[in-house]
Amino acid sequence: MPADRTTKVVTRLFGTAGSSSIEVAMKHGAYSRLATALGMTPAAIVDEVKKSNLRGRGGAGFPTGTKWSFIPKGADTVYLVCNADESEPGTCKDRELIFWDPHLLIEGMILSSYALGCKHAYIYIRGEMMREVAVLQAAVDEAYQKGFLGQEMRSAVGTFKMDLTVHRGAGAYICGEETSLLNSLEGRRGWPRLKPPFPAVKGLFGKPTIVNNVETLMNIPWIVEHGGAKFAELGVGKSGGTRMVCMSGHLNKPGVFEMPIGITFRQMIDEVCGGVPGGRKVKAVIPGGSSMPPLDIDELDVPIEFDALMSDPRIKPVMVRPGQVFELAPGRPLRTMAGSGGIVVMDDSTDIVAVTARIMRFYAHESCGQCTPCREGTGWLARVCTRLANGAGRLEDLELLSSISYGIAGNTICPLGEAAAWPMMGFLTKFRADFERAAATGEANHKAGRVPAAAHTHGGAH
Ligand SMILES: Cc1cc2nc3c(=O)[nH]c(=O)nc-3n(C[C@H](O)[C@H](O)[C@H](O)COP(=O)(O)O)c2cc1C
Ligand code: SF4
Repeated sequence: MPADRTTKVVTRLFGTAGSSSIEVAMKHGAYSRLATALGMTPAAIVDEVKKSNLRGRGGAGFPTGTKWSFIPKGADTVYLVCNADESEPGTCKDRELIFWDPHLLIEGMILSSYALGCKHAYIYIRGEMMREVAVLQAAVDEAYQKGFLGQEMRSAVGTFKMDLTVHRGAGAYICGEETSLLNSLEGRRGWPRLKPPFPAVKGLFGKPTIVNNVETLMNIPWIVEHGGAKFAELGVGKSGGTRMVCMSGHLNKPGVFEMPIGITFRQMIDEVCGGVPGGRKVKAVIPGGSSMPPLDIDELDVPIEFDALMSDPRIKPVMVRPGQVFELAPGRPLRTMAGSGGIVVMDDSTDIVAVTARIMRFYAHESCGQCTPCREGTGWLARVCTRLANGAGRLEDLELLSSISYGIAGNTICPLGEAAAWPMMGFLTKFRADFERAAATGEANHKAGRVPAAAHTHGGAH
């Protein structure tokens, strides 16, 4: 049966008093799926996850069961790492999931570890999440005391025992990228690694490793309990289950919601979040964290589902510049992506050029600096966009922004370069008139000698 707005897979305990304690969580079924899973073979669990159409909730939407099956057969040591770095602007679901139901995450990690043959799993959590770190560590300690962690349990293939370590990051956006996260976990500088090899083949300490998002792993107990096919039925097409959506910006009732994956942006804004304050119109919507190209007001009847956002023809393709479509592969235009579920709504009073400049400054600041197109390009985008927003731009800046973005995309070690280039081209495509107006203001200011020197450089990252 498809999910409706009351279906709760990962938020069942939201609002329940004491939900993070093991006693309360167990009263609501925590750890009850262990017996079922341990009675199955690990391969049978991987099959159920494949059937479930569960797709990664960390950003890329990659099918989880397929990723799991990349672990080489017979690997002696396998690691599972939960990505709880949650740094993408607009995204604030993992911290809520951890706060309200840490035992669902721990149970999901035990079930996943058994399926993957992992004996030591890690949770890499963003260091600033003090509240969630405390809740999570207390829950892990309780799971050890109850014997769900650190003790032998009987299984269909012998016995199973695992350890779980919570590791705090120091709070860098780039450490959410999986290979950077692994370097940071190993005690190295949080710089992304070149892929291949992918972590499933050579990851943490050089061993096969699966990195999964918090929400992804919290769906596993439901899949074990109800079966992969039922989970697939909750969703739409090739996207199983429900989706956590983080609604922020110009909304009467912003918040974090678990929703059917087929709900549209318009329904989310009008029906779930009570519309835009003051009855204003929507101007732009960031569909999945600030690294995703925006939607405009005519594109809001598309569902929040992964494939729809990539291929629905109602979403206009992103253009490098007028007349040149940006293609991910020949014949495959970039529209947008569901990303991390962070939806940011902007009303028609929003200064789009200023917003874009702010986003560019974020990526320039967070670039690890390892590769030139990203290190130099994001800073350049930030400076040019900022001078446009400050009334110090030039007409030729629009073409400059296009060519810098095009030079970054596809030419970097990790996707942070695209995280800046895609929204830059997306905002330019859909709100070109705003950029042209800003450039015309800049030209007029230059002519009248009204541009202070500082306006040219303010906001540069390096
Ligand atoms: C710059 C950057 C930042 C990222 N930050 C996060 C993050 O905070 N949390 C997350 O789960 N995934 C993040 N990702 C995606 C991870 O690299 C990885 O794809 C994900 O953790 C895999 O889990 P999933 O398959 O369950 O989605 C980021 C990726 C990039 C390129
Ligand atoms: S793309 Fe940017 S963040 Fe990623 S490795 Fe290169 S410089 Fe670092």
